[in-house]
Amino acid sequence: MTYDFDQIIPRKHTNSLKYDFAKERGKPDDLLPMWVADMDFQAPPAVREALAEKAAHGIFGYSDPDEAYFEALAHWFGIRHNWIIDPHTAVLAPGVVFAICTLIRCLTRQGDAVLIQEPVYYCFKAAIRDNERKVVINELLFDGRQYRIDFEDFERKIIGNKVKLFILCSPHNPVGRVWTRDELERLAEICLRHGVFVVADEIHEDFVYPGNHHTVFATLSDEVADNCAVCTAPSKTFNLAALHNANIFIANAQTRHAFQRELEAEGFSQSNIMGLVACQAAYQYGAEWLDELLDYLEGNIALMRETLRTRMPKVQLVEPEGTYLPWVNFSGLGLSVPELDCLIVERAKLWLDGGTIFGAGGAGFQRFNIATPRAILRQALSQLESAVNQIS
Ligand SMILES: Cc1ncc(COP(=O)(O)O)c(C=O)c1O
Repeated sequence: MTYDFDQIIPRKHTNSLKYDFAKERGKPDDLLPMWVADMDFQAPPAVREALAEKAAHGIFGYSDPDEAYFEALAHWFGIRHNWIIDPHTAVLAPGVVFAICTLIRCLTRQGDAVLIQEPVYYCFKAAIRDNERKVVINELLFDGRQYRIDFEDFERKIIGNKVKLFILCSPHNPVGRVWTRDELERLAEICLRHGVFVVADEIHEDFVYPGNHHTVFATLSDEVADNCAVCTAPSKTFNLAALHNANIFIANAQTRHAFQRELEAEGFSQSNIMGLVACQAAYQYGAEWLDELLDYLEGNIALMRETLRTRMPKVQLVEPEGTYLPWVNFSGLGLSVPELDCLIVERAKLWLDGGTIFGAGGAGFQRFNIATPRAILRQALSQLESAVNQIS
């Protein structure tokens, strides 16, 4: 290993949402935080060096992406995702959630129905509600081991609610599915048949474990590419969330211009220069670092899998195909939602994301963020084990 992911870098008193604002979020301040989706690892050296160089230059005036930036996008999606793109179909935005809100506003009208698949990243529902559109839910089905899509219900909900837009989470946060090409083709076909535009949030695309393959939604066919926006960002992959850089690929020129007009109407024009610099360096030079990170995360998942299986057999890991956010099933403990939350906070002293924030189907589940040095994960699992053993 060239990179040391075991190194523990203190994050307290660094303005970290994850570590520094427990009280403000109604939590005791002695919890071990494993919630919000950023990592406890430094960004790759090449990214830090590029940022340091820009900081040393010391001038942070208005900036735009240049040709090298777009070449870096084309390079990354070509080598990592076999997606040959015209990088100029990318529109820059200050974040994926920001882009989703903007897409909702420019592609639907007040009161229109927007479909999501719960349990899912809670900002989807908030984005629909905050923009006064109607939330329609196609619940994922859990067979006791893994999640799958209820395609009949998906189509029924589209027809019954005259759905205009579908927000796809691919790979899926929090259940960790990496949708297969076949599953995506079925979704795409139904959406095309009913005139439903697809916003594909692929922010977790680079976190895929062996045996699984991420298919970029727009690669399914030209027709599908024309009917979707693919939301990407280097922020999850390289731990750059606070640099506010996202690249939204929209092949259809009319839709792309509508999106650009809406961004302008929101007052957004130039990007954050540090975000541009970091994204370009990450996509140019970050592949080897990412490969080692993926190996490390696999090791963390293996530790979690073994610890749960041997020491807390009533607590079940839903095997993650992708993402660093394993979804864990505590329903074997027979606790109510408040009792489970109390177990996690009061006894285990952990700060996780309670399952119900992702939708009603999340009752009995918790989402762990395992993108942390192994020693921290080991500590968290040990705290969880003592708590679970106290009650079972
Ligand atoms: C599926 C998904 N989309 C978007 C985001 C956030 O993206 P951004 O910070 O670019 O708004 C997250 C963060 O956890 C996420 O899981």
